[in-house]
Amino acid sequence: MKGSLLRSRQLRSVVDAVGDTPLVRLGHVAREAPSVEVYGKLEFANPGGSVKDRAALRMMQAALRDGRLTPDRTLIDSTSGNTGVAYSIFGAALGVRVTLVMPSNVTKARKDIARAFGTELVFSDPMEGSDGAIRHVRRLVAESPDLWFYPDQYSNRDNPDAHYYGTGAEILDALGDRITHLVAGLGTTGTMMGTARRLREHTRPIRCVAVEPAEALHGLEGLKHLQSSLVPPIHDRAGYDETMPVTTEDGWDMADRLAREEALHVGHSAGAAVFAAVEIAKHLHREQGGGCIVVIIPDRGDRYFAPMKWEKRYVW
Ligand SMILES: Cc1ncc(COP(=O)(O)O)c(C=O)c1O
Repeated sequence: MKGSLLRSRQLRSVVDAVGDTPLVRLGHVAREAPSVEVYGKLEFANPGGSVKDRAALRMMQAALRDGRLTPDRTLIDSTSGNTGVAYSIFGAALGVRVTLVMPSNVTKARKDIARAFGTELVFSDPMEGSDGAIRHVRRLVAESPDLWFYPDQYSNRDNPDAHYYGTGAEILDALGDRITHLVAGLGTTGTMMGTARRLREHTRPIRCVAVEPAEALHGLEGLKHLQSSLVPPIHDRAGYDETMPVTTEDGWDMADRLAREEALHVGHSAGAAVFAAVEIAKHLHREQGGGCIVVIIPDRGDRYFAPMKWEKRYVW
């Protein structure tokens, strides 16, 4: 189907609006590499506003199918970020109860988004941060295993599989004859592991480059500094070709440029990924005189608007 028809299609539920996200040429921020095509895959076009819709939906649908998630159980997890929004929206769509545990000092906006879909919130000790929220969930699940379904996106195969069957397949469908590079940030690593696995099945080699924060303490929400973090069980370093460290400053600056120059107001992890993609494009332009790069844009910038004055002491 051509673009305009695809966008106006009738859907039975928001569930069917996940995926088939647009690829947009980033011609302005990559203008120093005119021989290289750079495309952003706009994951904020998913109904929950981020790349995490794909993983959350697949984890929920698979668990409903095989009986791990039944009507008497509640989905529980410890995220106040994009995955929490995704669980909440599909919980409402699929009739699944959702409980999220988050430190009590996350922003009011984060609490309100989840509650709008009927999600129940449980607050953990703000002094213990996100690790405290994880421990709280594990405690609740251990106490009453029959009450809960805990998807655990860091070790759930349906997370990368959502990108193997979705993101990767869509990219090959659109650009399989031309794509030379994939660039994506590492959080749970699901996006990179699943998309790269699919791209590696293509007849031509496609170089898959993972973007990581350069510093352990960073401001690139959604991304993990793997050397200083618990490495997710779904991660396999052999599953992609290269890692590029990007500083918080470069990621934030590129996010600003994307809004002004491409009219794409995106999150900071997208800024970091596009920064890396443009560096690769400049190198390809100099050394090879061409190339075609797809870079994953995980979410929109308005998720990160500064909190109001009385919310200044916040954590995401
Ligand atoms: C804003 C943002 N960027 C990037 C990622 C990384 O995606 P993945 O978990 O698939 O590695 C996430 C994941 O939570 C995210 O929220």
